[in-house]
Amino acid sequence: MSTDSPAISLDAQITAVSAEIDAATLTNAEEAEAFRIRFLGRKSGAVTDLFGRMKEVPGDQRKEMGQRLNSLKQQAQTRLDTAQNELAGSPKSTASDIDLTLPGRVPAPLEPGTLHVLTQTLHTIQNIFQGFGFSVAYGPEIEDDWYNFTALNFPPEHPARDMQDTFFIESPSADNPGVVLRTHTSPVQIRVMEHEKPPIRVIAPGRVFRNEAISYKSYCLFHQVEGLVVDEGVTFADLKAMLHAFAQAFYGDDVRMRFRPSYFPFTEPSAEVDIWWVDESLPGGGRWMEVLGCGMVDPNVLENVGIDSERYTGYAFGMGVERQAMLRHDIPDIRLFYENDVRFLRQF
Ligand code: PHE
Repeated sequence: MSTDSPAISLDAQITAVSAEIDAATLTNAEEAEAFRIRFLGRKSGAVTDLFGRMKEVPGDQRKEMGQRLNSLKQQAQTRLDTAQNELAGSPKSTASDIDLTLPGRVPAPLEPGTLHVLTQTLHTIQNIFQGFGFSVAYGPEIEDDWYNFTALNFPPEHPARDMQDTFFIESPSADNPGVVLRTHTSPVQIRVMEHEKPPIRVIAPGRVFRNEAISYKSYCLFHQVEGLVVDEGVTFADLKAMLHAFAQAFYGDDVRMRFRPSYFPFTEPSAEVDIWWVDESLPGGGRWMEVLGCGMVDPNVLENVGIDSERYTGYAFGMGVERQAMLRHDIPDIRLFYENDVRFLRQF
């Protein structure tokens, strides 16, 4: 027969049940419910049963055993509450249920936008010239007569001013030579040379405006990239070599280009450059497309900005960006650039 008093035996059981409570796994709702029944069930829970044995405890030990049983019940209840809270969706447990890598729910697949084909072409041109050591300058789109014409050696009343189909902001009058939407990017040449002395090696991209008859190859607004190089000993051969190197970089090594004598008030001699547009449907398999004007900076222009034209020479060019993009991407009509038809824009 055991010599253990019932109280010692109850004491050992409390210790054993306490260890069981600690060791139980409570990772899902079924385990939590099984735990509740096993330890706290009203009829046959282990803790409940131990309370039933209190009547066996001698009077002097009752108080201590009662306290131990209460804390055992508390221990089981706390474990159960904690497990149920976690399972019911505290932030810690739900974090693993949310897949942050799932794509968002949208009515239709979102199409990312792209840069406009003209912006892409401008960037390409700019990158090529930056590779040749040119820096980039910008000027205003509204210019006065001095920058757009007079400093560029357009004499007053000269018919070359008409060549440019000018949009006037302020019409010329006796005391106002006029304010215009710039008809070309050449005024940026003047602005650069006013502030910088040779050696100068700069391009100036930007928008220009002309009141021209609109057609497949002319629009009232278009883009140019101006180029200007001024230094000692700069020759027409340098100009040809630079433009040829550009054309090869932009169109490919097999590009066909030609220089045609031309006239601009601010260059002497002057030329226009054509690029061969391959089109098998045309007799001859294509046609020449004019893409830029160029020439040696007229000494009068250098003198207008205080650069010694005996010591320095320079070349300049101004290319149409739309024309270059049309040739490169086989775009038949300049107006497509400005209609913003997504079926067109999406192709680039
Ligand atoms: N500015 C001229 C034009 O718009 C082009 C040009 C630029 C010609 C520079 C010569 C030198 O047609």
